Amino acid sequence: MTGQVRGVQLARLLGQWHALPGRRRSPDYAALAGSVRGLLADGRLPLGVRLPAERELAEALRISRTTVTAAYRQLRETGHLASRRGAGSWTMLPGNHRVASTGLWTPLDDREMLDLGVAALAAPPQLLSAARAATEDLPRYLSGAGYHPTGIIELREAVADAYTARGLPTSADQIMVTSGTQHALDLVLRLALAPGGTVLVESPTYPNALAALAGRRARISTHGLAADAGWEPDLLLGTLRQTRPKLAYLIPEFQNPTGHLMPASLRERVVAAAHAVGTDLIIDESFVDLSLDGTEVPPPVATYDRHSRVVSIGGMSKPYWGGLRIGWVRASAPQVQRLAAVRVGVDMASPVLDQLVAVHLLADAEAIVADRRVQLAVQRDALLGALAHQLPEWRVTVPRGGVTLWAELDGPVSSALARAAEEVGVRLAPGPRFGLDGTLERFLRLPFTLPAADLVEAVGRIAAIRYDLDRAGRQRWREPAVIA
Ligand SMILES: Cc1ncc(COP(=O)(O)O)c(C=O)c1O
Repeated sequence: MTGQVRGVQLARLLGQWHALPGRRRSPDYAALAGSVRGLLADGRLPLGVRLPAERELAEALRISRTTVTAAYRQLRETGHLASRRGAGSWTMLPGNHRVASTGLWTPLDDREMLDLGVAALAAPPQLLSAARAATEDLPRYLSGAGYHPTGIIELREAVADAYTARGLPTSADQIMVTSGTQHALDLVLRLALAPGGTVLVESPTYPNALAALAGRRARISTHGLAADAGWEPDLLLGTLRQTRPKLAYLIPEFQNPTGHLMPASLRERVVAAAHAVGTDLIIDESFVDLSLDGTEVPPPVATYDRHSRVVSIGGMSKPYWGGLRIGWVRASAPQVQRLAAVRVGVDMASPVLDQLVAVHLLADAEAIVADRRVQLAVQRDALLGALAHQLPEWRVTVPRGGVTLWAELDGPVSSALARAAEEVGVRLAPGPRFGLDGTLERFLRLPFTLPAADLVEAVGRIAAIRYDLDRAGRQRWREPAVIA
């Protein structure tokens, strides 16, 4: 199948694998198997890779070979490993799993699970009426073949108008409709990044963006966001100047996962620096509509662009519904044409009916988005209240928009916590999912997209297992190895 993971690499990914103490303390082989399952479930260990030979892993972990043998045996029994004598052992997943939208693997029969791995809201009530209205519009399109590689004109106009209303004059020929923001990112990368090209991203950042970059075999450098203050302007500009990446991927509005909002002054400086060093900017505006507490959003990054350095991507998933699969690219008209040419080799065009639904939702944007903001503020406050009450040692910066907060934990326990949380019916995306290997164990992303009562319940369950982890004493935790 694909590659092979070496003993030292797996040891690094496993980090604090044996640290599930307290009442839940299990034998070492079971803890090791559980940690490998955790890495598989959250996507840090890919499917179909060959695990190190037992002896090699035992040496890397400084444990006995019998422990590794027993762990591999258990992984085979649970369907997470396939072995062939003499050839090795490959990672796999049992048949009763599916992939969640976060890229996390999740059991099929988990309806009771409180899923804090997904940072997206359920559909708004207006979706059904928009869908009905869209079917009424459909006959206008039925006499054509239905392929519109840049999108149907009504939707491109509506998206362009929304940019213009934000102070960035935009025409329909600068918009390409895509099947979601992730698709937009993938298409832009196909056009703008040769395999092995260099890209600067924030750390932490959106995991599926990292996956898209891995798909292009990008060489990634990072700008670390401060937990409380976000981008450190001089450092960010310095990194751009030193590394001169081909691309930089940034999420300036209510960044996923931290919730930070990039100030106008930095937007202007980033665009100028990018131009000076020849870097193109991919600006992900997924959360731009979701400001809370009346927070004013600075002008779009593309406002400061004079040289077609900025490609903006965005979509309907966060303010409206992820199930629509409607996103877009805003770029220069020639760039849009080039993207469309790439796109016909991928998926040809987006579904006409879904685009019509999007047109109706955007026509009602003001009311729908206002409701979403109220809902999100209530849910965020419920989550903050529960955290302050149940886990007062955790540090959080109150996000002024978006759908997630980034909690700084009281130890490098994020992966261990996520594994233990599964057992009490809470799915978490641990901090390391949002960075490069091995970092961010001290952090956890918590979305506030579930109803308030579910969030409070989830925090209660997390607090209970956090207490369990504590009982064996905090001195057991090691600092995580940082692999930059
Ligand atoms: C920053 C960011 N970009 C892109 C996406 C993917 O969005 P879509 O569902 O429109 O593909 C998400 C979803 O969480 C996101 O947070």
